[in-house]
Amino acid sequence: MSKDRPVHIPYGAYYKTEIPAHDPELTHTGPGTPMGELMRKHWQPVCMSEQLTDVPLAIRIMSEDLVAFRDRSGRVGVLQRHCSHRGTSLEYGIIQPKGIRCCYHGWVYDIDGTILEMPAEPEDSRIYETVYHGAYPAFERDGLVFAYMGPPEEKPEFPDYDTYHRPDGNKLLPMSIFSPCNWLQVCENIMDHLHVGTLHNPQMMTVEGVNASEIEGMDYAAPMGFTERPALDWEPTRGGNGMCFIASRRNPDQRTVWVRIVETIFPNYLQIGCTFPSARTSRRSQTVWTRWHVPVDDENMLVLGWRHFNDEVDPLRLGKEEEVGYEKLDFLGGVVGNRTYEEGQRAPGDYEALIGQRAIAIHDYENPGSADAGVYMCRKLLRECVRGNTPPHESLEINGSGRNRLHTYTQDSVMNVPSEPGKDDLELMRRVGQQVFVIMQEGDDVPSANREEHIRARFDDLDGGYLEAAE
Ligand code: FES
Ligand SMILES: [Fe+2]
Repeated sequence: MSKDRPVHIPYGAYYKTEIPAHDPELTHTGPGTPMGELMRKHWQPVCMSEQLTDVPLAIRIMSEDLVAFRDRSGRVGVLQRHCSHRGTSLEYGIIQPKGIRCCYHGWVYDIDGTILEMPAEPEDSRIYETVYHGAYPAFERDGLVFAYMGPPEEKPEFPDYDTYHRPDGNKLLPMSIFSPCNWLQVCENIMDHLHVGTLHNPQMMTVEGVNASEIEGMDYAAPMGFTERPALDWEPTRGGNGMCFIASRRNPDQRTVWVRIVETIFPNYLQIGCTFPSARTSRRSQTVWTRWHVPVDDENMLVLGWRHFNDEVDPLRLGKEEEVGYEKLDFLGGVVGNRTYEEGQRAPGDYEALIGQRAIAIHDYENPGSADAGVYMCRKLLRECVRGNTPPHESLEINGSGRNRLHTYTQDSVMNVPSEPGKDDLELMRRVGQQVFVIMQEGDDVPSANREEHIRARFDDLDGGYLEAAE
């Protein structure tokens, strides 16, 4: 702020009208931007499989206009949207047995961008050799379409995490939710864990006279216990390529502690733990929602991912498969922007809070408090990754078929650690949470096949008090 002003002045808006710039290093993801280049080194979901029909789909990812389609041979193509001939959008193209035909002069492109036909040109046209159309590798998995938009020579294998496969019978259902704001706001909202006690607390955040229990999505925080303030830590993971929060809360029985760990992996990947009340009674559960925060452009984003259905993460079967999909999710009402403006005002959710931070949040205009340490750690670590200062961690290396799967730290567990009269319970819970985190990390050295058994045995050791190693 350049205006010379006193530190505090009532009715002082005049002194606060100069808006600082936002933070392009972290927020801009177009071609050639530092964050855009980092994201392009990873496979990104770009749409749901069900969106690919008998006509092409116009999509925009990281400020690039693209078209996605499934040709009549069943292969998925992700091409630059505008035809290499004279620029007509391929969203009006005709899907072929092999590739897609531009509507204007009929050029046909294969899914890798090779020109297959130019009806108005001679068969020996040099254009076949000298022109290629921009294409990205793509594939489908469990109802999502993934594309790799980085340098072809650096294309990685698709990371295969353990939680996609466990427990036995785990079902992955695809979903997609749009938000008109920068991707980072939605990403860092997770490390802003304490907002669940306010934004999602019906007692605090509904207009007087509104029956909170009747408002969709306002009903999960209280039964979950999210309204209680936890013992909370944030820790870097994978050598700075990720981070997690560790939130430990005392259960009403005074004998057990619920430890929740949620990990984000940079730049834009996340697995969220159980969102049902069973989280604080079950011994152990893991991911309920895998998601990527995918920029559409700098002021719009998509959450694309999988909702996990299994008996461990939802033993009471409170989830509803039919309510998961395009612009819908069966829990966390308020995440999807499907309510009226007035409904959003009367019972705001994540959607309202996040788009309300401006199209691109201005970090220099914030006044962070102690509860924001996680958000600031997230930005700091992310910046190091963007700048290339964080070497890749071996846990991110691909463990292909037949070898170990990539391990996940996201979890909820309940430890038998009674409160001790006269002792600081928050401190005790914090140490229990740290121990659970240590156990999850130790599990990295155990082959995938035995890891679960190992973790559960170590949790049994932790019952009754924190381990020696915590001293
Ligand atoms: S503009 Fe596409 S074929 Fe001419
Ligand atoms: Fe939230």
